[in-house]
Amino acid sequence: MNKREKIIIGNWKLNGSKQLMQDTLVELGQAINPHHAANNFTLAICSPSIYVGEMIQLAMQISNKLLIGCKNINTDPYTFTGELSAHTAKAMGCKLCLVGHAERRTALNEGNYSYHIKVKQLLAAGVSPALCIGETLEEKLAGKTYTVLHQQITQALAGITLGDNTPLYIVYEPAYAISSSQALTPVFAQAVHADIRRLLSDILGATQANKIAIIYGGSVNHDNALNLIAQPDVDGLLIGCANSNLQHFRAICNKVFSLAPVFNYATERKDYENHMDAS
Ligand code: PGA
Repeated sequence: MNKREKIIIGNWKLNGSKQLMQDTLVELGQAINPHHAANNFTLAICSPSIYVGEMIQLAMQISNKLLIGCKNINTDPYTFTGELSAHTAKAMGCKLCLVGHAERRTALNEGNYSYHIKVKQLLAAGVSPALCIGETLEEKLAGKTYTVLHQQITQALAGITLGDNTPLYIVYEPAYAISSSQALTPVFAQAVHADIRRLLSDILGATQANKIAIIYGGSVNHDNALNLIAQPDVDGLLIGCANSNLQHFRAICNKVFSLAPVFNYATERKDYENHMDAS
């Protein structure tokens, strides 16, 4: 039995406007506030960095369970014009930062070693890295999923030490599932997440591995979210396109947070199954 919290991360990709910020935060307030007393969930939004400061100000008025994050930092901490660093993200108030999103891995040719540096710099600054990993369709078809994940995780996390105050998140997103309507089935996602946890255990030890939230991303929507997050090793969801429908996004959050107290608890699992039967 594990007691990891459930986490939902909304990825705004390149979207954003003053109106979207306000509408999102009103909707998310409605998703969070009824469940505020439960401690075991977190909701985060990663917006384009130009909106982060204002998002943080607005989010503080809504809930301390609503975290705002950014989507990349540079490995150079001081001199790369146009980029963000771990310490500027921290100074702005970001609580988390995506590292190695597939859209960057494939298009920008960034390597695992750069992700290692980014993870280290974020942890040192006190900003949670959300390390994105995942295979391409070609790699999957060649039977290389495990090998690719093994390489991505070991190279990014070798020698990393985790403290208690800045959690590390792992986001498993098969590249072919992103914004494609080809989400993994819950059973398949669970199998890969369990492999990832074993890899984490080899690198960081079982105690740390059991604490790390492993988040699934890739075409999560209103229809598949609950079945995915109900898997024992699927601790969260990264949601891109579907968070642009604010009512759907709020409904996903609401359902997940209302069930957060019973996920993963074998004796109360029946409550979840009954809920699924009834919905
Ligand atoms: P998607 O995007 O939900 O549209 O597949 C996932 C992501 O932002 O990585």
